[in-house]
Parts: sequence; C-alpha cells; structure tokens
Amino acid sequence: MQLLAWYDQNKRPLPWRLDQASLRDPYRTWISEVMLQQTLIPVVIPAYQRFLDKFPDVFTLSQATEDDLRPVVKGLGYYRRFGMLHKSAKIIAAASAPGKPLWPENQEGWKALPGIGEYTSAAISSIAFGIPVPVIDGNVERVLCRLADIRKAPNLPELKPQYRRMLTKMLGNPVATARPGDFNQAMMELGQRVCTPKNPDCDACPVSSECTSRKAKSQHLAPAPKIRPAYEEVRLQMIIGLRPGLDGTREVALFRRGSKSRFLKGSRGFWFSEAWDLPIGTQNVGAFRHSITKHKITADVQILEMKATTKKSCRISKWTKESPDWVPAGAVEDELISNLDVKAWRLVTRRFQL
Ligand code: ADE
Repeated sequence: MQLLAWYDQNKRPLPWRLDQASLRDPYRTWISEVMLQQTLIPVVIPAYQRFLDKFPDVFTLSQATEDDLRPVVKGLGYYRRFGMLHKSAKIIAAASAPGKPLWPENQEGWKALPGIGEYTSAAISSIAFGIPVPVIDGNVERVLCRLADIRKAPNLPELKPQYRRMLTKMLGNPVATARPGDFNQAMMELGQRVCTPKNPDCDACPVSSECTSRKAKSQHLAPAPKIRPAYEEVRLQMIIGLRPGLDGTREVALFRRGSKSRFLKGSRGFWFSEAWDLPIGTQNVGAFRHSITKHKITADVQILEMKATTKKSCRISKWTKESPDWVPAGAVEDELISNLDVKAWRLVTRRFQL
C-alpha cells in the first residue's frame, strides 16, 4: 500500500512513536492521544515527556494528587480532560492486579472510561491493540474530502458515515488491516504535512493517483471552509481577595469552581462573575483578554483588601457561597492552572508589591 510505504519513509520521530514495535504501550498511547485531542504536536512533545517522567505508569498516575498533576499539565488548556484521565487511571488501577494493568479489551471498553470518545478510543484501539477501526480527525476529514472531491464543510455531521465507509474500505486492504495504527497515523500525518488546507503538495502525495480532487483540479474547493462556532464576547469581573498574612506578606483567596461555573469547572482560582454588583471597596487593577473555546473574554481585574480574621468565609463568600483557601502570595502562581488566572495574577503582581 502506497500510503503505508510513504509513512514508513516519512513519519516524524515523535516521542510516542519511538519504540519501533508496531504495537505500542497502551499507557503511552493513551496519554499521548489525550494530549493530542486539543493541542498541537510541538506543545504536546515536552508535556508528554514531563508527564511520563512524573507518572511512568497507570499506577503512579492513579495515586497522584491534584497538586502533583497541575504543574505537569499547566499550559495545555482544556483541563477537564486531565481530571477525567486521572479518574480513568483510578478505575483501571482499581480493576488491575498490582503492577499488572488490566486494559479495556476493545474500543467499547475504552469508550466507557471518562473523557474517552469515538476518536480517542479508535486511536488507542488501533495503535496499541491493532484493532482495525478508523480514526477520523480534522486532518483525515480533509484528506477524504479531497479523495472523493467533497466540496462541503468537512465537519458536517452528515458526512461522518461516508468517511467511515471510505476508511473501512481502505482498512480492508490486507496491508492496512495488519497495521491499523500505522494506517490511521499515516492518514493524520498526510493531512498534517502533505494534504494541507491551502497548498496541498500533490506531487509528494502517495495517494494522488486515486484523488478525485486532483483529477478535477478542485483541491481548493474540496473541502469547503469549516463551519466554525460563532465567537461569543464575554465580560468578566475578576476579584482577587487579599488579607494580611504572616510576617508582613499577603495571603490570596483562591476558590474551588463548582460544576455550575460557566468556565473552568472544578479548577481553583480567582473568583469571577458576569454580574456588576461587586463587593464595595474593590480597587481596579486593569483588564486583559483571554479565549476559552469559543468565548472571547475581557476580564476586569479588581483587588479587594480584607482584614485578618479567623473566620473561614470572607466578603466574596456572599457571592460564591464558598469559603476560599488562603494562599501566601509567593505561592499563588504555582497553584493556578488556567491562563485566565495566571494573566490576572501577573497583572496584579506587576502593579503591586505583595
Ligand atoms: N494527532 C493525534 N494523534 C496523532 C498521532 N498518533 N499521530 C499524529 N498526529 C496525531
């Protein structure tokens, strides 16, 4: 098969590919595919290495605390996936004998774990277990649209069955059936490096002789532009509560965000609100912009100085119904995971000596 021959010659030596056996360690495959769900390869590479150094197997991951995990995944975005990864590690470790991980046996078994959907379960099943199921990501969609000259938005749900039929047929080739993980990665890699959105390099393409768009010279029409979710502007008030701490330093209020929080559910950080009725006595610090998925956020940052008290709640608690954790100012940055909080904190520390 031309595609796999091309892949063997051209695949990049990505760290999760470096053990040369055609089947890979399920743990490593799982970690890399969860990271690659939402994050570009150059950002994933150092994070993947950091992650494996700290959590070399599913048992160390299952025993990690949130404090262990946070510095390792900081900066990757979409943090809920790592909460679910952690939960899944606990489920797998609990079902396994000590030191011998008991992995789900098939795609359905993987899909039953928190945070693992069609795409990730297919990637793990094919790459680590050699099960011939197709992986469909944005790159693969583009390749298929060109192969069949589909001049529609590639992410239309109605196209999924057609993609699945095309890939199942290709996977029926005995060479691909024997190496489904490599087949899927070859399709992704072809989309990333050759069959690119703007200037596909058809001369370098191993499947150009079968490509309908190439024959029709319609590479620039197939696929049509993606349907993107409309961006939504959001204005947030962020309030950073401060109180005197030990030896003249300040302590900072960090809140655990609940499941009803509009953004960053389950994370810990500064209180934010879309309302304008704020505690009195806040001092304006400045504003910054930040994006979370389709939300374009403008955040106004205020500090609120409070008195030292032994009470757990504080003046912000009236809004949050939660008591904060008070963290020494010097330790705050390490406690934050999202760039929303990090940007707010940097704005404060640039203006104030805390
Ligand atoms: N994107 C997601 N998973 C990938 C993989 N295994 N290889 C290349 N790109 C990917």
